Amino acid sequence: WWSGVQMGPPDVILGVTEAYKRDTNPKKINLGVGAYRDDDGKPYVLPCVRKAEDKLRAKNLDHEYAPIGGMAEFCKKSIELALGEGSEVVQNSLNATIQGVSGTGSLRVGAAFLSNFFPYNKVVYLPAPSWGNHTPIFKHAGMDVKSYRYYDPKTCGLDFAGALDDISKIPEKSIILLHACAHNPTGVDPTKEQWAELSNLIKKKNLFPFFDMAYQGFATGSVDNDAFAVRLFVKEGHRIALTQSYAKNMGLYGERAGAFTVTGESKEEADRVMSQIKILIRALYSNPPIHGARIVTEILSDSQLRADWLKEVKGMADRIISVRTTLRDNLKKEGSTKSWEHITNQIGMFCFTGMNAQEVEKLTKEFSIYLTKDGRISMAGVTSKNVDYLAHAIHQATK
Ligand code: LMR
Repeated sequence: WWSGVQMGPPDVILGVTEAYKRDTNPKKINLGVGAYRDDDGKPYVLPCVRKAEDKLRAKNLDHEYAPIGGMAEFCKKSIELALGEGSEVVQNSLNATIQGVSGTGSLRVGAAFLSNFFPYNKVVYLPAPSWGNHTPIFKHAGMDVKSYRYYDPKTCGLDFAGALDDISKIPEKSIILLHACAHNPTGVDPTKEQWAELSNLIKKKNLFPFFDMAYQGFATGSVDNDAFAVRLFVKEGHRIALTQSYAKNMGLYGERAGAFTVTGESKEEADRVMSQIKILIRALYSNPPIHGARIVTEILSDSQLRADWLKEVKGMADRIISVRTTLRDNLKKEGSTKSWEHITNQIGMFCFTGMNAQEVEKLTKEFSIYLTKDGRISMAGVTSKNVDYLAHAIHQATK
């Protein structure tokens, strides 16, 4: 039956981890996938998550199915985290929110909903570049994918003029995907003023904004700051789609806890949307996993655990910010004459180093440092122990 099936390539991000695992060099470093490590390079379980699990264990809960759209309390807490407590959208029940299978699964449900029900141009415009999985997610759901300028390789920063120019040429009533904060892979975000301009232009062009918020809290260390763009668009009257993930900001990678929201004009409209999303989910995976969502709900509902969490997210964000400075300083000490300013200008989990494919290959072949071919490094994997070796290797590969 399968003689015609050709071998597919490894995943551009998760394939890096597979290659890393096969390497026997004790100095090897995995800077591919965005997964936070503590300063000893070990996976980090947030103390608030441990406490939430203790509380859950004491409750002796059963393992019944969640509803198709997931746990109601989880959905409520999630959308409030995104839009802020007291959000009018939530108070007026204008949101259809479901618990998704982390960020990816939530995006896939969103793509399925748009593919089936978006009444105009079923084309999603992604920033160039965007997260490697965005294109396949939308294409698998039958959507067309195009792009708008975003990153400027000359400055390793935002090509704001290019973005405005391209967005102004997008046909009206298309869909535009925006990274809410900590853009992946570039670590380059618009300023607040630039977000306001983008909001105006997107409204003028009658585009439908779809926010992917996978790093709330990770960009600046504050969940409210990081939700700035989403809240601004909502305040400016946009109807939006939104995906959220708790993989990074609660360290719940394998628990697959996330959410997808569409906002409507009325409760009645949101209810109709919700009914159709549930029909799509039933055929995709029936209903979502419960454990991660229970942890999230416990943390967001308990004022002490929530306060602990906010401190712990900030701790992760701050460690990354400090190791960015060390990496930049060490490159200088190594004698690199290149400008590495962007290492500290960019934010969030990733640094888009500007290294080309040959330089990346050298880093991997000669130094056992693993990263994606586009030159992105996951800063979350850089520690005070491996940063010297990394700076040395980057300098050798780029000089
Ligand atoms: C990444 O970009 O490394 C993360 O979003 C993890 C993933 O699933 O790709």
